[in-house]
Amino acid sequence: MPAIVLIGAQWGDEGKGKATDLLGEQAQWVVRYQGGNNAGHTVVLPDGQDFALHLIPSGILTPGVTNVIGNGVVVDPAVLLEELSGLEERGVDTSRLLISADAHLIMPYHVAIDRVTERYLGKKQIGTTGRGIGPCYQDKVARVGVRVQDLLDEKILRQKVEAALEYKNQLLVKVYNRRGLDAEEVVDTVLGQAERFRDRIADTKLLLSQALERRETILLEGSQGTLLDVDHGTYPFVTSSNPTSGGACAGSGIGPAGINAVIGILKAYTTRVGAGPFPTELTDEAGESLRSQGGEFGVTTGRSRRTGWFDAVLARYATRVNGITDYFLTKLDVLSGLESIPICVGYDVDGERTDEMPMTQTGVHHAVPIYEEMPGWTEDLSGARTFKDLPANAQAYVQRIEELSKARVSAIGVGPGREQTIVRHSMA
Ligand code: GDP
Ligand code: IMO
Ligand code: MG
Repeated sequence: MPAIVLIGAQWGDEGKGKATDLLGEQAQWVVRYQGGNNAGHTVVLPDGQDFALHLIPSGILTPGVTNVIGNGVVVDPAVLLEELSGLEERGVDTSRLLISADAHLIMPYHVAIDRVTERYLGKKQIGTTGRGIGPCYQDKVARVGVRVQDLLDEKILRQKVEAALEYKNQLLVKVYNRRGLDAEEVVDTVLGQAERFRDRIADTKLLLSQALERRETILLEGSQGTLLDVDHGTYPFVTSSNPTSGGACAGSGIGPAGINAVIGILKAYTTRVGAGPFPTELTDEAGESLRSQGGEFGVTTGRSRRTGWFDAVLARYATRVNGITDYFLTKLDVLSGLESIPICVGYDVDGERTDEMPMTQTGVHHAVPIYEEMPGWTEDLSGARTFKDLPANAQAYVQRIEELSKARVSAIGVGPGREQTIVRHSMA
């Protein structure tokens, strides 16, 4: 199986890190294709050690895998170095990490603008991670971004940063009443940082294409999720990139025909961090209980995640816009102990029933979930290793999700560990 895309099917934090780690054992390459250090992917190794990865692909923990920060990713050099040293201090071999020359750099002014914009939006804020992601992608699209390859040409780098700061400083100082940044200082800092990763800069598009010719397996590790996609998500409460499977081609340089499978990572309930509509959100004790049972606190910002019941409208939508071939259903173990479990099967939008994602954002805001009740189970699922080990009601819950989502559930997570997984069908 050459290239396999792993994507979040909801609003992020579905367990992409665990899924990548699990499938990484069968891959030679793991590639991040969008986003940046707004992501927080958790991997728990069989010896119990856990790692939180933000910018570096989760495959870094699998010996022998070459990891790529693809052209679609936005790279904060300071974060890259910090993450590399954190991994190295823990004995992880980071020698197999490459960075696309075409990836864009998150500069200090992107971070400053992200934070100040959010503060000024007040109650209308997106609730971004404050990592400079949106402002960096804005510069990319506006064709004034600074790329990783610019680190190899000091003259060009200086020109670009000076030109960018001429405008950004006006914005920071005159509009937001903040301190401006000194171009020389910014360039010197970033050049100093680049010294430590210069030899990792590569033509990763060429390398990935050669790997495909050799029929090597490439995992494309999405960050964020379908409903945070700038095109397909709950705009404007989204991130500034395309986490959906189409983004995997644009952000890695692999053509669509090179993709063999699209695996959606789907949590057995729903969570969301930051602002925006969330039809099945629970603001009562049931929501609090999902949060504490599921440990739903952000890996990147530490914020409490909003929680709610499983939403099959969203899952069906994710199947459709990503072309999902298989689902990896995570965190089924968290639902043990509930008497009955609601599943949202459709929405009532202003008095009309729909089973599909509403066409307009207003429709999403007005969507009132229509629930079906599934009987719960009391057993602890963490030791289950085959589908038959699951109580009948848990099996029925999975089967209902499978029917409603319109794609098969090929793997089920029953705990954070790599081995705490039930594999029903081979995905790679
Ligand atoms: P990601 O951003 O999609 O990689 O997900 P996060 O790492 O932000 O959040 C997922 C959390 O759930 C992490 O703490 C994982 O260790 C944990 N996790 C993943 N799969 C399972 C599972 O099947 N059961 C349980 N209980 N925890 C899981
Ligand atoms: P992983 O990869 C969950 C959310 C933020 C905010 C919105 C925009 O761990 O699933 P941004 O900083 O990207 O401009 O913020 O997107 N967000 C995430 N939510 N998981 C993530 O990543 C996220 N990355 C961004 O909370 O609502
Ligand atoms: Mg996460």
